[in-house]
Amino acid sequence: MDLNLTNQVAVVIGGASGIGLATAQAFAAEGAVVAILDRNPAAAEIAAEIGRETSVATYGGILDATDFEAVRRAVDDIEAALGPVVHVANTAAIGSGKGGFPFWNLQPEDWRAVLGVNILGAVNIAHAFSPGMVERRQGSFLFLGSVAGQIGSQTDPPYSASKAAILNFVQCMAKDLAPHNVRANVLNPGMVSTPLQARVYAGQVAHLPVDQRPSYEEWAAEKIGRLVPLNRWQTPEDIANMIIFLASDRARNVTGQSINVDGGWVMHW
Ligand SMILES: NC(=O)c1ccc[n+]([C@@H]2O[C@H](COP(=O)([O-])OP(=O)(O)OC[C@H]3O[C@@H](n4cnc5c(N)ncnc54)[C@H](O)[C@@H]3O)[C@@H](O)[C@H]2O)c1
Repeated sequence: MDLNLTNQVAVVIGGASGIGLATAQAFAAEGAVVAILDRNPAAAEIAAEIGRETSVATYGGILDATDFEAVRRAVDDIEAALGPVVHVANTAAIGSGKGGFPFWNLQPEDWRAVLGVNILGAVNIAHAFSPGMVERRQGSFLFLGSVAGQIGSQTDPPYSASKAAILNFVQCMAKDLAPHNVRANVLNPGMVSTPLQARVYAGQVAHLPVDQRPSYEEWAAEKIGRLVPLNRWQTPEDIANMIIFLASDRARNVTGQSINVDGGWVMHW
């Protein structure tokens, strides 16, 4: 399916790893011009590699999304290098690195960093990128939520709460931006094997004696078998495919939505 994204500038924040990296690659494969922003110092090299593989123009920069002035400067730098930004996908997020079950296994202080990146970082991105899109009357935002934000997940309570908050803020964004022909949606993955997922596993098994800890694969297979009707992992590419579809004009009437690519884990009606 031609998504007509050729030469449109797409920015992926958190694009140096996992779902974000697959998203940057998918935009590039569709001919979009791609910028990767990530706190990982390898962001520029990763973006350059995508450029070499696909022959699209790319930009890579180090960014901590919790620093609003830095996000604002990144918008200017990208637009000077590549042109006006059309699509923004924010895949940057962290977990607490600790396991809930119950929530008091964490301390209130454990919430601060998670909310700082996952919700306040997203707010910074919304504020920094919206003015240009509004002025040009063109654009799409995509924020990563999670099934954890939809089901009161006990796994990592601050992470779950941050993902519920992003759903609500994106609905607000979608309403405010709609008169300006700018869309905003949330995509909720289920179980995707990435460095973030490996850290969730580590937090979950940390309290068990070493000889009683399941392997990562055993832990994931049990969880997926219990919770995911399709009984399989979602891949970063599964998520990226939906992200680039939602960015494209094929989804031009989709805004303010929360869409799951989760193997059927959470079903709404
Ligand atoms: N992996 C899953 O199963 C899963 C499930 C549901 C939701 N998600 C969501 O998908 C998104 C991507 O997750 P992933 O699994 O690919 O994780 P990941 O850890 O592989 O990638 C996240 C990227 O975000 C970057 N990042 C973190 N904090 C940042 C900051 N302050 N500023 C800039 N960059 C920052 C990291 O450096 C990393 O490159 C996240 O929003 C996550 O919550 C993932």
